[in-house]
Amino acid sequence: MAPSYKIACIGAGYVGGPTMSMIALNCPDIEVVVLDINEERIKAWNSEQLPIYEPGLEEVVRQCRGRNLFFSSDTTKHLAEADMIFVSVNTPTKTSGIGAGKAADLTYWEGAARMIAAVATTPKIVVEKSTVPVKTAEAISKVLKRNCTDPSVTFEILSNPEFLAEGTAIEDLRMPDRVLIGGGDSEAGQAAIKQLAWVYAHWIPQERILTTNLWSAELAKLTANAMLAQRISSINSISALCEATGADVQQVARAIGMDSRIGSKFMNTSVGFGGSCFQKDILNLCYVCEGVGLKEVADYWMKVVTMNDYQKQRFVERVISAMFNTVARKRLAIFGFAFKKDTGDTRETPAIDVCRGLLADGAKCVVYDPKVTPVQVFRDLSAPKFEWDRPHGWGKSERHITENVQVVADPYACAEGAHAICVLTEWDEFKSYDYQRLYDSMVKPAFIFDGRNVLDHEALRSIGFIVYALGKPLDPFLQKSY
Ligand SMILES: NC(=O)c1ccc[n+]([C@@H]2O[C@H](COP(=O)([O-])OP(=O)(O)OC[C@H]3O[C@@H](n4cnc5c(N)ncnc54)[C@H](O)[C@@H]3O)[C@@H](O)[C@H]2O)c1
Repeated sequence: MAPSYKIACIGAGYVGGPTMSMIALNCPDIEVVVLDINEERIKAWNSEQLPIYEPGLEEVVRQCRGRNLFFSSDTTKHLAEADMIFVSVNTPTKTSGIGAGKAADLTYWEGAARMIAAVATTPKIVVEKSTVPVKTAEAISKVLKRNCTDPSVTFEILSNPEFLAEGTAIEDLRMPDRVLIGGGDSEAGQAAIKQLAWVYAHWIPQERILTTNLWSAELAKLTANAMLAQRISSINSISALCEATGADVQQVARAIGMDSRIGSKFMNTSVGFGGSCFQKDILNLCYVCEGVGLKEVADYWMKVVTMNDYQKQRFVERVISAMFNTVARKRLAIFGFAFKKDTGDTRETPAIDVCRGLLADGAKCVVYDPKVTPVQVFRDLSAPKFEWDRPHGWGKSERHITENVQVVADPYACAEGAHAICVLTEWDEFKSYDYQRLYDSMVKPAFIFDGRNVLDHEALRSIGFIVYALGKPLDPFLQKSY
Protein backbone atom coordinates (compact mmCIF):
# COMPACT_ATOMS: atom_id res chain seq x y z
CA MET A 1 0.00 0.00 0.00
CA ALA A 2 1.36 3.47 -0.90
CA PRO A 3 2.25 5.61 2.15
CA SER A 4 -0.55 8.04 3.01
CA TYR A 5 1.61 10.78 4.58
CA LYS A 6 3.38 12.89 1.98
CA ILE A 7 6.40 15.13 2.29
CA ALA A 8 7.68 17.34 -0.51
CA CYS A 9 10.96 19.24 -0.45
CA ILE A 10 11.69 22.26 -2.63
CA GLY A 11 15.42 22.28 -3.44
CA ALA A 12 17.39 19.16 -4.39
CA GLY A 13 20.81 20.47 -3.33
CA TYR A 14 23.45 19.55 -0.77
CA VAL A 15 20.86 19.78 2.02
CA GLY A 16 17.55 18.82 0.38
CA GLY A 17 18.89 15.69 -1.36
CA PRO A 18 20.67 13.98 1.58
CA THR A 19 18.15 15.12 4.23
CA MET A 20 15.14 13.82 2.35
CA SER A 21 16.96 10.59 1.46
CA MET A 22 17.56 9.98 5.15
CA ILE A 23 13.91 10.67 6.00
CA ALA A 24 12.78 8.26 3.26
CA LEU A 25 15.21 5.61 4.46
CA ASN A 26 13.95 5.74 8.03
CA CYS A 27 10.26 6.38 7.34
CA PRO A 28 8.93 3.75 4.93
CA ASP A 29 5.43 4.89 5.93
CA ILE A 30 6.05 8.35 4.40
CA GLU A 31 6.35 9.25 0.70
CA VAL A 32 9.10 11.79 0.09
CA VAL A 33 9.39 13.77 -3.16
CA VAL A 34 12.32 16.10 -3.77
CA LEU A 35 11.62 18.91 -6.24
CA ASP A 36 13.84 21.36 -8.09
CA ILE A 37 13.48 23.91 -10.86
CA ASN A 38 16.84 22.73 -12.15
CA GLU A 39 15.85 19.81 -14.38
CA GLU A 40 19.45 18.71 -14.91
CA ARG A 41 19.83 18.27 -11.18
CA ILE A 42 16.65 16.17 -10.97
CA LYS A 43 17.84 14.04 -13.90
CA ALA A 44 21.11 13.44 -12.10
CA TRP A 45 19.33 12.44 -8.88
CA ASN A 46 17.41 9.87 -10.93
CA SER A 47 20.60 8.54 -12.55
CA GLU A 48 23.57 6.47 -11.43
CA GLN A 49 25.72 9.64 -11.21
CA LEU A 50 24.25 11.68 -8.34
CA PRO A 51 24.72 15.45 -8.65
CA ILE A 52 26.67 15.71 -5.39
CA TYR A 53 29.40 13.59 -3.86
CA GLU A 54 28.85 12.64 -0.25
CA PRO A 55 30.22 9.47 1.37
CA GLY A 56 27.42 6.93 1.99
CA LEU A 57 24.79 8.88 0.04
CA GLU A 58 24.64 6.53 -2.95
CA GLU A 59 23.75 3.54 -0.75
CA VAL A 60 20.97 5.44 0.98
CA VAL A 61 19.48 6.68 -2.31
CA ARG A 62 19.77 3.23 -3.87
CA GLN A 63 17.80 1.69 -0.99
CA CYS A 64 14.78 3.94 -1.20
CA ARG A 65 14.64 5.62 -4.63
CA GLY A 66 11.51 4.39 -6.39
CA ARG A 67 10.19 2.90 -3.11
CA ASN A 68 9.20 5.98 -1.11
CA LEU A 69 11.80 8.47 -2.39
CA PHE A 70 11.25 10.32 -5.64
CA PHE A 71 12.98 13.18 -7.45
CA SER A 72 10.77 15.27 -9.72
CA SER A 73 10.33 18.61 -11.50
CA ASP A 74 6.54 18.39 -11.31
CA THR A 75 6.18 20.91 -8.51
CA THR A 76 2.47 21.58 -9.03
CA LYS A 77 1.35 18.00 -8.50
CA HIS A 78 3.60 17.17 -5.58
CA LEU A 79 3.20 20.44 -3.69
CA ALA A 80 -0.57 20.14 -4.00
CA GLU A 81 -0.50 16.60 -2.59
CA ALA A 82 1.99 17.17 0.23
CA ASP A 83 1.04 17.35 3.91
CA MET A 84 4.41 18.83 4.85
CA ILE A 85 6.72 20.89 2.61
CA PHE A 86 10.38 21.46 3.40
CA VAL A 87 11.99 24.45 1.74
CA SER A 88 15.69 23.87 1.21
CA VAL A 89 16.52 26.42 -1.47
CA ASN A 90 19.69 28.46 -1.64
CA THR A 91 19.82 31.68 0.39
CA PRO A 92 22.94 33.43 -0.93
CA THR A 93 24.27 36.83 0.04
CA LYS A 94 22.63 39.70 -1.88
CA THR A 95 24.85 41.04 -4.63
CA SER A 96 22.98 44.26 -5.36
CA GLY A 97 20.52 46.70 -3.84
CA ILE A 98 19.92 47.33 -0.16
CA GLY A 99 22.12 45.12 2.02
CA ALA A 100 24.31 44.01 -0.93
CA GLY A 101 27.28 42.00 0.28
CA LYS A 102 25.69 41.18 3.64
CA ALA A 103 21.95 40.52 3.69
CA ALA A 104 20.50 37.16 2.69
CA ASP A 105 18.92 37.08 -0.75
CA LEU A 106 15.51 35.53 -0.13
CA THR A 107 14.42 35.60 -3.78
CA TYR A 108 14.50 31.81 -4.04
CA TRP A 109 12.69 31.39 -0.75
CA GLU A 110 9.98 33.82 -1.75
CA GLY A 111 9.68 32.07 -5.12
CA ALA A 112 9.20 28.76 -3.33
CA ALA A 113 6.54 30.25 -1.05
CA ARG A 114 4.65 31.64 -4.05
CA MET A 115 4.78 28.22 -5.71
CA ILE A 116 3.24 26.63 -2.62
CA ALA A 117 0.55 29.28 -2.28
CA ALA A 118 -0.43 28.93 -5.94
CA VAL A 119 -1.29 25.24 -5.68
CA ALA A 120 -2.34 24.67 -2.06
CA THR A 121 -5.90 23.47 -1.50
CA THR A 122 -5.27 21.57 1.76
CA PRO A 123 -3.54 22.60 5.04
CA LYS A 124 0.26 22.63 4.79
CA ILE A 125 3.08 22.58 7.26
CA VAL A 126 5.90 24.57 5.68
CA VAL A 127 9.33 23.79 7.13
CA GLU A 128 12.25 26.21 6.78
CA LYS A 129 15.26 24.01 6.13
CA SER A 130 17.30 26.74 4.47
CA THR A 131 19.32 28.99 6.73
CA VAL A 132 17.42 32.27 6.91
CA PRO A 133 17.58 35.54 8.84
CA VAL A 134 15.61 35.90 12.03
CA LYS A 135 11.91 36.58 11.40
CA THR A 136 11.88 35.12 7.89
CA ALA A 137 9.04 32.83 8.93
CA GLU A 138 6.92 35.91 9.58
CA ALA A 139 7.58 37.28 6.08
CA ILE A 140 7.01 33.92 4.43
CA SER A 141 3.76 33.46 6.29
CA LYS A 142 2.51 36.73 4.75
CA VAL A 143 3.50 35.65 1.24
CA LEU A 144 1.70 32.32 1.68
CA LYS A 145 -1.51 33.77 3.11
CA ARG A 146 -1.78 36.69 0.68
CA ASN A 147 -1.15 34.57 -2.40
CA CYS A 148 -3.32 31.57 -1.71
CA THR A 149 -6.60 31.83 -3.59
CA ASP A 150 -8.40 29.47 -1.20
CA PRO A 151 -8.89 31.39 2.09
CA SER A 152 -9.73 28.21 3.98
CA VAL A 153 -6.21 26.81 3.49
CA THR A 154 -4.02 27.13 6.58
CA PHE A 155 -0.22 27.27 6.70
CA GLU A 156 1.88 26.52 9.75
CA ILE A 157 5.51 27.59 9.46
CA LEU A 158 8.24 25.74 11.31
CA SER A 159 11.94 26.44 11.48
CA ASN A 160 14.02 23.28 11.30
CA PRO A 161 17.55 24.43 10.46
CA GLU A 162 20.00 21.83 9.20
CA PHE A 163 23.28 21.31 11.05
CA LEU A 164 24.86 18.67 8.78
CA ALA A 165 28.40 19.21 7.54
CA GLU A 166 29.31 18.35 3.97
CA GLY A 167 31.65 15.36 3.80
CA THR A 168 29.97 13.75 6.84
CA ALA A 169 26.35 14.56 5.93
CA ILE A 170 25.06 10.99 6.05
CA GLU A 171 26.56 10.26 9.46
CA ASP A 172 25.38 13.65 10.74
CA LEU A 173 21.85 12.89 9.54
CA ARG A 174 21.89 9.34 10.88
CA MET A 175 22.73 10.48 14.39
CA PRO A 176 22.60 14.28 14.74
CA ASP A 177 23.72 15.96 17.99
CA ARG A 178 20.26 17.49 17.99
CA VAL A 179 17.30 18.21 15.75
CA LEU A 180 15.96 21.70 16.32
CA ILE A 181 12.32 22.52 15.66
CA GLY A 182 11.01 26.04 16.17
CA GLY A 183 7.31 26.79 15.92
CA GLY A 184 4.49 29.10 16.93
CA ASP A 185 2.90 29.15 20.39
CA SER A 186 -0.65 28.62 19.12
CA GLU A 187 -2.36 25.25 19.34
CA ALA A 188 -1.88 24.76 15.59
CA GLY A 189 1.80 25.73 15.90
CA GLN A 190 2.36 23.20 18.67
CA ALA A 191 0.53 20.50 16.70
CA ALA A 192 2.77 21.19 13.69
CA ILE A 193 5.87 20.86 15.90
CA LYS A 194 4.55 17.49 17.09
CA GLN A 195 4.02 16.32 13.52
CA LEU A 196 7.58 17.15 12.48
CA ALA A 197 8.94 15.64 15.72
CA TRP A 198 7.02 12.46 14.83
CA VAL A 199 8.87 12.27 11.49
CA TYR A 200 12.29 12.51 13.18
CA ALA A 201 11.29 10.20 16.02
CA HIS A 202 11.32 7.35 13.47
CA TRP A 203 15.10 7.13 14.10
CA ILE A 204 16.23 9.89 16.43
CA PRO A 205 16.00 9.52 20.22
CA GLN A 206 13.41 11.82 21.75
CA GLU A 207 15.95 13.58 23.99
CA ARG A 208 17.80 14.86 20.92
CA ILE A 209 14.71 16.54 19.46
CA LEU A 210 14.72 20.07 20.79
CA THR A 211 11.76 22.43 20.41
CA THR A 212 11.91 26.22 20.70
CA ASN A 213 10.07 29.26 19.44
CA LEU A 214 10.50 30.20 15.78
CA TRP A 215 12.95 33.06 16.18
CA SER A 216 15.20 31.13 18.56
CA ALA A 217 15.53 28.31 16.03
CA GLU A 218 16.35 30.72 13.20
CA LEU A 219 18.89 32.59 15.32
CA ALA A 220 20.42 29.36 16.69
CA LYS A 221 21.46 28.30 13.19
CA LEU A 222 23.13 31.61 12.33
CA THR A 223 24.85 31.64 15.72
CA ALA A 224 26.05 28.05 15.43
CA ASN A 225 27.78 28.79 12.12
CA ALA A 226 29.19 32.07 13.40
CA MET A 227 30.68 30.33 16.45
CA LEU A 228 32.13 27.43 14.43
CA ALA A 229 33.75 29.89 12.02
CA GLN A 230 34.95 31.96 14.97
CA ARG A 231 36.88 28.97 16.35
CA ILE A 232 38.65 28.57 13.01
CA SER A 233 39.49 32.25 12.80
CA SER A 234 40.66 32.21 16.43
CA ILE A 235 43.12 29.36 15.93
CA ASN A 236 44.18 30.83 12.57
CA SER A 237 45.00 34.14 14.26
CA ILE A 238 47.17 32.22 16.71
CA SER A 239 48.90 30.41 13.82
CA ALA A 240 50.25 33.78 12.64
CA LEU A 241 51.53 34.52 16.13
CA CYS A 242 53.15 31.07 16.34
CA GLU A 243 55.09 31.66 13.14
CA ALA A 244 56.30 35.01 14.46
CA THR A 245 57.43 33.59 17.79
CA GLY A 246 58.52 30.01 17.11
CA ALA A 247 55.61 28.34 18.93
CA ASP A 248 53.80 25.41 17.31
CA VAL A 249 50.08 25.93 16.74
CA GLN A 250 49.32 22.20 16.92
CA GLN A 251 50.93 22.00 20.35
CA VAL A 252 49.01 25.08 21.46
CA ALA A 253 45.73 23.67 20.09
CA ARG A 254 46.28 20.35 21.84
CA ALA A 255 47.02 22.04 25.14
CA ILE A 256 43.94 24.23 25.06
CA GLY A 257 41.70 21.57 23.50
CA MET A 258 42.24 19.31 26.52
CA ASP A 259 40.46 21.91 28.61
CA SER A 260 36.96 20.46 28.75
CA ARG A 261 35.49 23.98 28.74
CA ILE A 262 37.07 24.58 25.33
CA GLY A 263 37.21 21.13 23.69
CA SER A 264 39.38 19.88 20.85
CA LYS A 265 37.08 20.11 17.82
CA PHE A 266 37.47 22.83 15.17
CA MET A 267 40.98 23.52 16.44
CA ASN A 268 42.91 22.72 13.26
CA THR A 269 44.57 25.69 11.71
CA SER A 270 44.07 26.00 7.96
CA VAL A 271 44.38 28.29 5.00
CA GLY A 272 40.88 29.52 5.86
CA PHE A 273 37.32 28.33 6.13
CA GLY A 274 35.13 28.00 3.06
CA GLY A 275 31.85 26.41 2.07
CA SER A 276 28.60 28.01 1.14
CA CYS A 277 27.51 28.79 4.69
CA PHE A 278 30.01 30.20 7.18
CA GLN A 279 30.78 33.51 5.53
CA LYS A 280 27.26 34.03 4.20
CA ASP A 281 25.69 33.33 7.58
CA ILE A 282 28.07 35.60 9.49
CA LEU A 283 27.42 38.43 7.02
CA ASN A 284 23.74 37.79 7.43
CA LEU A 285 24.06 37.86 11.24
CA CYS A 286 25.94 41.17 10.99
CA TYR A 287 23.20 42.57 8.79
CA VAL A 288 20.50 41.51 11.24
CA CYS A 289 22.48 43.11 14.10
CA GLU A 290 22.93 46.37 12.20
CA GLY A 291 19.22 46.35 11.38
CA VAL A 292 18.37 46.48 15.07
CA GLY A 293 21.05 49.08 15.86
CA LEU A 294 23.67 46.73 17.33
CA LYS A 295 26.71 48.04 15.45
CA GLU A 296 29.28 46.80 18.01
CA VAL A 297 27.85 43.30 17.85
CA ALA A 298 27.96 43.36 14.03
CA ASP A 299 31.57 44.65 14.07
CA TYR A 300 32.56 41.89 16.48
CA TRP A 301 31.33 39.09 14.20
CA MET A 302 32.64 40.79 11.07
CA LYS A 303 36.16 40.31 12.40
CA VAL A 304 35.75 36.55 11.98
CA VAL A 305 35.44 37.11 8.23
CA THR A 306 38.27 39.66 8.19
CA MET A 307 40.58 37.16 9.91
CA ASN A 308 39.64 34.51 7.34
CA ASP A 309 40.58 36.82 4.47
CA TYR A 310 43.81 37.68 6.27
CA GLN A 311 44.74 34.00 6.59
CA LYS A 312 44.28 33.39 2.84
CA GLN A 313 46.26 36.50 1.99
CA ARG A 314 49.00 35.60 4.48
CA PHE A 315 49.37 32.19 2.83
CA VAL A 316 49.72 33.76 -0.61
CA GLU A 317 52.29 36.23 0.67
CA ARG A 318 54.22 33.43 2.36
CA VAL A 319 54.39 31.45 -0.90
CA ILE A 320 55.53 34.46 -2.89
CA SER A 321 58.10 35.71 -0.40
CA ALA A 322 59.59 32.22 0.12
CA MET A 323 60.06 31.80 -3.61
CA PHE A 324 62.40 34.77 -3.86
CA ASN A 325 59.58 37.29 -3.85
CA THR A 326 58.04 36.24 -7.13
CA VAL A 327 56.06 33.38 -8.59
CA ALA A 328 55.94 34.89 -12.06
CA ARG A 329 55.95 32.14 -14.70
CA LYS A 330 56.55 29.52 -12.00
CA ARG A 331 54.51 26.34 -12.14
CA LEU A 332 52.68 25.79 -8.86
CA ALA A 333 50.97 22.47 -8.16
CA ILE A 334 47.72 23.06 -6.32
CA PHE A 335 46.74 19.95 -4.35
CA GLY A 336 43.04 20.22 -3.57
CA PHE A 337 40.44 22.74 -4.67
CA ALA A 338 37.31 21.65 -2.72
CA PHE A 339 36.62 23.65 0.43
CA LYS A 340 37.20 20.54 2.54
CA LYS A 341 37.90 16.86 2.05
CA ASP A 342 35.25 14.31 1.04
CA THR A 343 33.20 16.77 -0.98
CA GLY A 344 33.33 18.12 -4.51
CA ASP A 345 31.82 21.41 -3.30
CA THR A 346 33.94 24.46 -4.09
CA ARG A 347 31.61 27.22 -2.94
CA GLU A 348 33.71 29.89 -1.20
CA THR A 349 36.66 27.51 -1.10
CA PRO A 350 39.84 29.26 0.10
CA ALA A 351 41.54 27.78 -2.99
CA ILE A 352 39.77 30.41 -5.10
CA ASP A 353 41.33 33.37 -3.32
CA VAL A 354 44.70 31.67 -2.93
CA CYS A 355 44.89 30.80 -6.64
CA ARG A 356 43.74 34.28 -7.57
CA GLY A 357 46.46 35.77 -5.39
CA LEU A 358 49.13 33.56 -6.96
CA LEU A 359 47.85 34.23 -10.48
CA ALA A 360 47.92 37.96 -9.80
CA ASP A 361 51.66 37.59 -9.15
CA GLY A 362 52.09 35.81 -12.49
CA ALA A 363 52.05 32.15 -11.43
CA LYS A 364 50.97 29.21 -13.59
CA CYS A 365 48.63 27.14 -11.41
CA VAL A 366 48.12 23.44 -12.10
CA VAL A 367 45.23 22.06 -10.08
CA TYR A 368 44.57 18.50 -8.99
CA ASP A 369 41.52 17.60 -6.90
CA PRO A 370 40.07 14.09 -6.68
CA LYS A 371 36.45 15.31 -6.89
CA VAL A 372 36.38 18.73 -8.54
CA THR A 373 35.90 18.94 -12.31
CA PRO A 374 37.99 21.21 -14.58
CA VAL A 375 34.84 23.12 -15.58
CA GLN A 376 34.15 23.92 -11.94
CA VAL A 377 37.70 25.19 -11.32
CA PHE A 378 37.59 27.51 -14.34
CA ARG A 379 34.11 28.71 -13.43
CA ASP A 380 35.14 29.47 -9.85
CA LEU A 381 38.30 31.30 -10.79
CA SER A 382 36.55 33.43 -13.41
CA ALA A 383 33.28 34.20 -11.62
CA PRO A 384 32.95 37.64 -10.10
CA LYS A 385 32.70 37.57 -6.34
CA PHE A 386 31.69 40.01 -3.62
CA GLU A 387 34.22 42.54 -2.43
CA TRP A 388 34.23 40.67 0.86
CA ASP A 389 35.69 37.63 -0.75
CA ARG A 390 38.35 39.32 -2.71
CA PRO A 391 41.27 40.72 -0.75
CA HIS A 392 42.66 43.87 -2.30
CA GLY A 393 43.63 43.84 -5.90
CA TRP A 394 43.03 40.19 -6.55
CA GLY A 395 41.06 38.86 -9.49
CA LYS A 396 41.93 38.63 -13.17
CA SER A 397 40.11 38.38 -16.45
CA GLU A 398 38.74 35.09 -17.77
CA ARG A 399 41.38 34.92 -20.53
CA HIS A 400 44.13 35.27 -17.98
CA ILE A 401 42.63 32.32 -16.11
CA THR A 402 42.40 29.98 -19.10
CA GLU A 403 45.97 30.82 -20.15
CA ASN A 404 47.50 30.32 -16.74
CA VAL A 405 45.45 27.58 -15.11
CA GLN A 406 45.52 23.92 -15.96
CA VAL A 407 43.50 21.15 -14.30
CA VAL A 408 44.92 17.64 -14.36
CA ALA A 409 43.65 14.24 -13.26
CA ASP A 410 46.83 12.94 -11.67
CA PRO A 411 48.89 14.36 -8.77
CA TYR A 412 52.22 13.26 -10.26
CA ALA A 413 51.46 15.02 -13.54
CA CYS A 414 50.39 18.02 -11.49
CA ALA A 415 53.74 18.32 -9.71
CA GLU A 416 55.97 17.46 -12.66
CA GLY A 417 58.20 20.45 -13.43
CA ALA A 418 56.60 22.48 -10.62
CA HIS A 419 58.52 24.80 -8.31
CA ALA A 420 56.13 24.19 -5.43
CA ILE A 421 53.19 22.17 -4.16
CA CYS A 422 50.46 24.05 -2.28
CA VAL A 423 48.15 21.81 -0.24
CA LEU A 424 44.79 23.59 -0.05
CA THR A 425 42.41 20.73 0.88
CA GLU A 426 43.04 18.05 3.50
CA TRP A 427 42.25 15.02 1.26
CA ASP A 428 43.52 11.83 2.96
CA GLU A 429 45.13 10.57 -0.24
CA PHE A 430 47.64 13.46 -0.14
CA LYS A 431 49.30 11.80 2.87
CA SER A 432 50.13 8.58 1.06
CA TYR A 433 51.78 9.86 -2.14
CA ASP A 434 55.35 8.97 -3.05
CA TYR A 435 56.93 12.31 -2.16
CA GLN A 436 60.39 11.18 -3.24
CA ARG A 437 58.96 10.62 -6.74
CA LEU A 438 57.24 14.01 -6.63
CA TYR A 439 60.44 15.70 -5.44
CA ASP A 440 62.51 14.08 -8.18
CA SER A 441 60.18 15.48 -10.85
CA MET A 442 60.15 19.06 -9.52
CA VAL A 443 62.33 22.13 -10.10
CA LYS A 444 64.78 22.78 -7.22
CA PRO A 445 64.61 24.15 -4.65
CA ALA A 446 61.32 22.30 -4.33
CA PHE A 447 58.83 23.82 -1.91
CA ILE A 448 55.77 22.44 -0.15
CA PHE A 449 53.32 24.87 1.41
CA ASP A 450 51.01 22.83 3.60
CA GLY A 451 47.88 24.91 4.03
CA ARG A 452 46.17 22.16 6.03
CA ASN A 453 49.04 20.73 8.11
CA VAL A 454 48.30 17.21 6.92
CA LEU A 455 51.69 16.05 5.65
CA ASP A 456 54.66 14.55 7.49
CA HIS A 457 56.88 17.63 7.43
CA GLU A 458 60.02 16.02 8.87
CA ALA A 459 59.88 13.22 6.27
CA LEU A 460 59.48 15.82 3.52
CA ARG A 461 62.47 17.81 4.82
CA SER A 462 64.62 14.69 4.85
CA ILE A 463 63.78 14.19 1.15
CA GLY A 464 64.99 17.73 0.45
CA PHE A 465 61.79 19.77 0.31
CA ILE A 466 61.62 23.23 1.83
CA VAL A 467 58.47 23.02 3.87
CA TYR A 468 56.13 25.72 5.09
CA ALA A 469 53.48 24.54 7.53
CA LEU A 470 50.92 26.92 8.98
CA GLY A 471 51.63 28.01 12.53
CA LYS A 472 54.84 25.98 12.82
CA PRO A 473 58.37 27.19 13.53
CA LEU A 474 59.72 28.39 10.18
CA ASP A 475 62.44 26.58 8.23
CA PRO A 476 65.64 28.70 8.30
CA PHE A 477 65.23 29.07 4.51
CA LEU A 478 61.84 30.75 5.01
CA GLN A 479 63.07 33.13 7.70
CA LYS A 480 65.06 35.10 5.15
CA SER A 481 63.28 37.75 3.16
CA TYR A 482 64.19 38.59 -0.40
N1 LIG B 1 25.44 23.02 2.20
C1 LIG B 1 25.48 22.87 3.51
O1 LIG B 1 26.38 22.26 4.08
C2 LIG B 1 24.36 23.43 4.36
C3 LIG B 1 24.24 23.00 5.69
C4 LIG B 1 23.20 23.51 6.45
C5 LIG B 1 22.32 24.44 5.92
N2 LIG B 1 22.47 24.86 4.64
C6 LIG B 1 21.49 25.82 4.10
O2 LIG B 1 20.55 25.07 3.33
C7 LIG B 1 20.09 25.85 2.21
C8 LIG B 1 20.33 25.08 0.93
O3 LIG B 1 21.72 24.87 0.79
P1 LIG B 1 22.31 23.87 -0.30
O4 LIG B 1 23.76 23.79 -0.04
O5 LIG B 1 21.48 22.64 -0.34
O6 LIG B 1 22.00 24.74 -1.63
P2 LIG B 1 22.04 24.25 -3.14
O7 LIG B 1 22.33 25.43 -3.96
O8 LIG B 1 22.91 23.03 -3.26
O9 LIG B 1 20.54 23.75 -3.43
C9 LIG B 1 19.45 24.59 -3.52
C10 LIG B 1 18.56 24.10 -4.66
O10 LIG B 1 17.33 24.82 -4.62
C11 LIG B 1 16.86 24.95 -5.96
N3 LIG B 1 15.83 25.99 -6.04
C12 LIG B 1 15.96 27.32 -5.83
N4 LIG B 1 14.77 27.93 -5.95
C13 LIG B 1 13.86 26.96 -6.23
C14 LIG B 1 12.45 26.96 -6.46
N5 LIG B 1 11.73 28.06 -6.39
N6 LIG B 1 11.86 25.78 -6.73
C15 LIG B 1 12.57 24.63 -6.79
N7 LIG B 1 13.90 24.58 -6.57
C16 LIG B 1 14.53 25.73 -6.28
C17 LIG B 1 18.11 25.24 -6.76
O11 LIG B 1 17.93 24.96 -8.12
C18 LIG B 1 19.13 24.32 -6.06
O12 LIG B 1 19.25 23.07 -6.72
C19 LIG B 1 20.84 27.18 2.29
O13 LIG B 1 20.04 28.09 2.97
C20 LIG B 1 22.06 26.84 3.14
O14 LIG B 1 22.53 27.96 3.84
C21 LIG B 1 23.46 24.36 3.84
